Amino acid sequence: MFRIDRNLTADELDKALRTDVAEGLTARPKQLPPKWFYDERGSGLFEDITRLPEYYPTRAERSILETHADEIAEASGAVALIELGSGAGVKTRLLLDAMRRQGELTRFVPVDVSGEFLAASARPVVDDYPGLDVHAVVGDFEHHLGLLPVSESGRQLLAVLGSTIGNQEPGPRDSFLRDIHDVLHRGDSLLLGADLVKDPARLVAAYDDSQGVTAAFNRNVLSVINQQLGGDFDPTAYEHLAVWNAECEWIEMRLRARSAQHVRVADLDLEVGFAEGEEMRTEISAKFRREGLAAELDAAGFDLTHWWTDAEGDFALTLATVR
Ligand SMILES: C[S@@+](CC[C@H](N)C(=O)[O-])C[C@H]1O[C@@H](n2cnc3c(N)ncnc32)[C@H](O)[C@@H]1O
Repeated sequence: MFRIDRNLTADELDKALRTDVAEGLTARPKQLPPKWFYDERGSGLFEDITRLPEYYPTRAERSILETHADEIAEASGAVALIELGSGAGVKTRLLLDAMRRQGELTRFVPVDVSGEFLAASARPVVDDYPGLDVHAVVGDFEHHLGLLPVSESGRQLLAVLGSTIGNQEPGPRDSFLRDIHDVLHRGDSLLLGADLVKDPARLVAAYDDSQGVTAAFNRNVLSVINQQLGGDFDPTAYEHLAVWNAECEWIEMRLRARSAQHVRVADLDLEVGFAEGEEMRTEISAKFRREGLAAELDAAGFDLTHWWTDAEGDFALTLATVR
């Protein structure tokens, strides 16, 4: 059975975009939240990124899942998988397969802000897993966790893959982990994919590939503003930057105006200027260390039970249970 809940209607999505763009373009320095990359084109570009030679996280996380999915299924004992920021859900199938082998899988709840992409990726799951209740939710995991269809009976496994957790700064990340804790029940499990601190040159290359796919993904946020809010950004007037912030241990994606720009966003009745060389932050991607992540999980009420990495030690999958 397939159903899709919309916790975010088109109107609400539009309102949230308006607020974030109005605040972000008038902030100093300017910044935009990464969730607005992901219209249908942006979600497709992210999938292209996952196949780039420089972008190791997806391959590393997949290799961990290939090796440990059965252990994850067994340790969690879950009958339902909830996935936040599910995207194309390619790696998710390794988990669904393992949970099915375990014999108790009944429900899959993929959650994503990118509605059309979610519908297209989640619907085929029903055909491939006969009998599975696929309950997709279009929503913002920063605001709508309380609306998730979390079942009262049977263990739940909630997954946040692709190091999506790294897109939040420490404060909001702590709130996010606590919110996840609060929607789950004691004994339920959280599976987190986390990219690890490593040689900055490899990190920067992963976010600034030689084919320019990440650059196109980054500039897509300007096209989203143009299409959805009547903006007149010239995306080609902005250079893509990926910068390692050693103090915060995160990659920052920025857009830098190549020359002075005057931009009008008609639907917001907003005019903003960019000085030549002015930079706007569009995403952070925090990189983790074992002690730090274990402490964050502990503070949010989880017991870390498993920590797996790929053979190169680039990426970690952690399994934690709700205390
Ligand atoms: C880094 S991608 C990871 C996709 C997939 N999980 C993977 O591992 O390849 C982040 C995903 O989270 C979604 N997303 C970003 N911010 C979100 C938010 N606030 N609420 C719900 N989904 C969000 C995006 O649409 C995208 O599909």
